[in-house]
Amino acid sequence: MKITNYTTANEEDTIELGRLLAAGWTRPCVVLLIGNLGAGKTTLAKGIAEGLGSAKADDVSSPTFPLIHEYGEEGDLYHIDLYRLDTVAEVETLGLDEVFSRRAVVLLEWAERFPTLLPAERIEIRIEAREDETRELTVTELP
Ligand SMILES: Nc1ncnc2c1ncn2[C@@H]1O[C@H](COP(=O)(O)OP(=O)(O)O)[C@@H](O)[C@H]1O
Ligand SMILES: [Mg+2]
Repeated sequence: MKITNYTTANEEDTIELGRLLAAGWTRPCVVLLIGNLGAGKTTLAKGIAEGLGSAKADDVSSPTFPLIHEYGEEGDLYHIDLYRLDTVAEVETLGLDEVFSRRAVVLLEWAERFPTLLPAERIEIRIEAREDETRELTVTELP
């Protein structure tokens, strides 16, 4: 397990961190984005999409409906938000295993609530809001 901490000062800083993190990842790669509403999960996803070359930051939005957004010409980035789902059975209808089996980066928001459905090998990024616009980010590479 490898743990790295970062602090960002504002929204653009978090997008830039997403670009840098994504540049070091190899597909397939499952990434949990963990934090309260407004923490900056979707903001980080914008930078990750740019770092992978899959989409421009402005084209990345919260995947509220549909719950799965796919980016990149060859579907090399998925962004999934499980906020509105309550049970394992509901999540199972999404077919996550099939998504995990693709050569893609899979970003998941609110997936820590369904640990039995997640691969053991994954990256967890916790985002916490501090005073003003500061965010503390903890990146954990599992196992
Ligand atoms: N350092 C920061 N990093 C990320 N977002 C920030 C930061 N400071 C302020 N913000 C603001 O916080 C909000 C984060 O929203 P969003 O990324 O949609 O959160 P989430 O997906 O976690 O609910 C945005 O309005 C953004 O402008
Ligand atoms: Mg979000």
